[in-house]
Amino acid sequence: MINIKPSKKLKKLPPYLFTKINLLKKEAFDKKLDVIDLGMGNPELPTPNHIIDRLCDTVKHHSNTHRYPQAKGMPKFRKCIAEWMVKRFGVKLDPENEVLSLIGSKEGIAHICMAYLDPQDYALVCDPAYPVHFNGVALADAKTYSMPLIEKNSYLPDFTKVPEKIAKKSKIMFLNYPNNPTATVVEDDNFWKEAIKFCKKYNILLVSDNAYSELTFGDYCAPSIFEFPGAKDIALEFHSFSKTFNMAGWRLGWACGSKKLLYPLEKFKSFLDYGAPTFMQLAGVAALNGPQNCIKELSSVYEKRMKKMVHGLQKIGWHAHETKGTMYIWVGLPNCLIKEGSLSVAKRLVKETGVIVSPGIGFGKHGEGYLRISLVTHDKRFHDALLRISKFTRYANKSL
Ligand SMILES: Cc1ncc(COP(=O)(O)O)c(C=O)c1O
Repeated sequence: MINIKPSKKLKKLPPYLFTKINLLKKEAFDKKLDVIDLGMGNPELPTPNHIIDRLCDTVKHHSNTHRYPQAKGMPKFRKCIAEWMVKRFGVKLDPENEVLSLIGSKEGIAHICMAYLDPQDYALVCDPAYPVHFNGVALADAKTYSMPLIEKNSYLPDFTKVPEKIAKKSKIMFLNYPNNPTATVVEDDNFWKEAIKFCKKYNILLVSDNAYSELTFGDYCAPSIFEFPGAKDIALEFHSFSKTFNMAGWRLGWACGSKKLLYPLEKFKSFLDYGAPTFMQLAGVAALNGPQNCIKELSSVYEKRMKKMVHGLQKIGWHAHETKGTMYIWVGLPNCLIKEGSLSVAKRLVKETGVIVSPGIGFGKHGEGYLRISLVTHDKRFHDALLRISKFTRYANKSL
């Protein structure tokens, strides 16, 4: 066998968090454990019927949709996105030049790093963060400067703590609110205004990852970055169909913003892929133009699950708080488990209870001491999950 080593930059990357979790899951299944999977943010509820019908109809009756798609997205898709951005956020975009289809927003986020970053460049990335924010930077062979998200600062980065020297060498800043993994939302518009001011001052591309904009609870409604003055000069925004319409496996999203900032991503992608399949784009059009009450219903399912888990975990000494959005809860380990560390606790939880969660450390150094729980299993299973975590905690307390 010849010995060909993969690239150095690939070696630098840790195993993908969910690859590790999937291995644990497989072990648990092999041992015939009754697994409750709250690990990945992988919605278990079905895609709404009208979207499925549109996909089936398109594939069956419009045979030309099997051909290579238009890489930047078909005009109908881009027009639909532009109209939805006006309806939803009051944001006007030119469908021809300011909307780009993506094969899921993860693809676009990883590639925006490669489109913009050179090895000497920095990207400002929150810690903890959705792993593609820092792994995308590593894939581009560039450097990450971590902006800690800590409870004391309501899980918001403090831009004043970024050293001037680093800010000057930074080309991208990633922000993601409603946030994965901390489930924080931003209620004070000043935060966005400060972010825009900071990025303008240092000539930084602000990437707003708005994958959870539609999954919010109560009166809270998440904005688009483009609702704030000056954002279009420095920002791009990424959106996803995955969570809003339970279409995670369909792989469809979009990036939007000024032609000048968006074009490098379009150019980069044109050398790599042919864009999202045409029948998927048409299904996306059906999703955005169709009834929107399915989104409210979905959000209220997550809100109920969130309350049940948060209150249940609080009762057994875990540090959990109600949230205003996303499909996650970010839970501080109880005192009896804090020293053990999040990875070991997550591993033992799978092995000993069959409950799969994500260790906070997988999202960054400042995620240590936390677990992320995804609210993606049948409502009835949360009661069982709580009973098992409660028993696990009692043992941990006894062995202190
Ligand atoms: C913050 C954030 N951005 C982007 C994505 C990727 O979404 P998509 O399925 O569109 O690639 C996720 C998925 O979990 C996410 O949590």
